[in-house]
Amino acid sequence: MKVDRRTLLATLGATAAVDTIPFETLADALEHHLSYQLDQTAGAQQVAAEERTFRRGVGSLFVMQKDGASSLKQLEPMPPKPTLLDFFRLRFAPANHVLQSATRALKTGMSEETILACLLHDIVLSLIKPDHGWWGAQLVEPYVSEKVSWGIRYHQALRFYPDPSVGYEYPEMYYRIFGRDYTPSPHIEAAYKYARNHKWYMEARLITVNDLYSFDPNAKVSIDPFIDIIGRHFKQPKEGLGNDNNPVAHMWRTIANPDQPL
Ligand SMILES: [Fe+2]
Ligand SMILES: [Fe+2]
Repeated sequence: MKVDRRTLLATLGATAAVDTIPFETLADALEHHLSYQLDQTAGAQQVAAEERTFRRGVGSLFVMQKDGASSLKQLEPMPPKPTLLDFFRLRFAPANHVLQSATRALKTGMSEETILACLLHDIVLSLIKPDHGWWGAQLVEPYVSEKVSWGIRYHQALRFYPDPSVGYEYPEMYYRIFGRDYTPSPHIEAAYKYARNHKWYMEARLITVNDLYSFDPNAKVSIDPFIDIIGRHFKQPKEGLGNDNNPVAHMWRTIANPDQPL
C-alpha cells in the first residue's frame, strides 16, 4: 500500500468540488492534515516507512510538493536583512491556507492579533510538521505578543475538539483521515484541557475557526491586506530574521537556506 497526497485527497471525497480544486492549492492548505497522523495505524506506518525515502514530517520546503514535479521548487536567494514579508514572498508562497485563514479573520471583524495569529499559524510547516503548533509558536514567539504565540501553540490541539459556542465542529475530514475511532495522543488531550480553561482559550479557538476546511479555488489571496497589521504587531528585527542572534534565529536561517548541507 502506498499512501501519498493523491491517495489521501481521494479519501477526502471524490466530489466534483474537490476535483476542481487546483492540486497545489489543496495540497498547500491541507499540508498539516496530510502529514500529521495519516500513518497512525501501526500497519500503515510500517508500510509507508518502508516505501518512503523521507520522513513524513519533513517540512514542505524540503520535499517536492506536487505530484509529477521533476525537481524541487527553485528558491530565490533571500535579501541580506529578510523581513517577514520576504519570507512570505520567497519561502512560504503561495501560503494559500494561512492567507485564506487570515482573510476570513479580517472579513469577520476579528482583532488584529487574531488576524496575525491566523496568518502565522502554519508557516512553520515549511520547516517541520509534527507538533507544528509548538514549533510554530516558538518560531514567532520573540516577535509577537504572548497572546498570539499562545494561540498558535494551542490551535493544533484544539482542532480535534468541537466548540459549538463558536460553531466549530469536529472536522468531517478528520473522520476520513484518522478514522471514526481515532483518539488524539495524550499530549494533545492534555494541551486541550489546559487551553480550554485558560483565559486566552479563545485566541487559539478562533484560529481553528478560521482554519478553513473548505476551499474556494477561485479565492484571490494576497499578503497586501495584512502588511499594516504585520507592521503594527510583528516586531521585525532590524538585522533581519535569522540575523538577530535570537534563540530562534537558526529556525529562520534554516527556512532561508534549506539547502545548507550542515
Ligand atoms: Fe495548523
Ligand atoms: Fe491550518
